[in-house]
Amino acid sequence: MDTLRREITDFFRKLYVEEQKILVFGEGNVPSRVVLIGEAPGPQETLQGRPFVGKAGKILDEFLALSGIRREEVYITNTVKFRPVKTSAAGNTVNRAPTREEVKLCLPFLRRELALAAPQVIVTLGNVPLKALMGQQATIGEEHGRWLEWEGRRLYPLYHPASIIYNRALRPVYEQDVTRLGEALRKEQ
Ligand code: URA
Repeated sequence: MDTLRREITDFFRKLYVEEQKILVFGEGNVPSRVVLIGEAPGPQETLQGRPFVGKAGKILDEFLALSGIRREEVYITNTVKFRPVKTSAAGNTVNRAPTREEVKLCLPFLRRELALAAPQVIVTLGNVPLKALMGQQATIGEEHGRWLEWEGRRLYPLYHPASIIYNRALRPVYEQDVTRLGEALRKEQ
């Protein structure tokens, strides 16, 4: 994993010469039975250099607790390893969704990360990692809470934890999906 991180760092240092990106790598044990994949780091993650430590991370921790999965037993990473930003009308730096181009650039690294972490179960959080692995036709609205397969590994799509901040109606759906995930993991142990 250290070699991979060095390669990612070199790659993006050469690619983005003007605006050096701050990279946030995955965290957790390797190999790991379960790997969680988010979208891209936000401001808090970039500041602390760790995935899911901001607002979305708090919600994720809450759901993990509900499912009986401990954060220490999973490996958590992001599809895109740097924070995608834009300048708002008011002139502030704000988050934006990663572009397809950015996802494409990061995908070979994510694949290698998954090969090293060798999970039995991949949990994608939101549309970005789902589409990155399963193709553009896959949508989280359709696939959440269903067991899929990606290159011989089981894949379980969950909504992105931040989505329940914007859409409160998703909370019970999320709770059900995550509870089922926890049950399935316990049964297989
Ligand atoms: N949202 C993500 O998708 N990943 C993070 O690390 C934080 C917020």
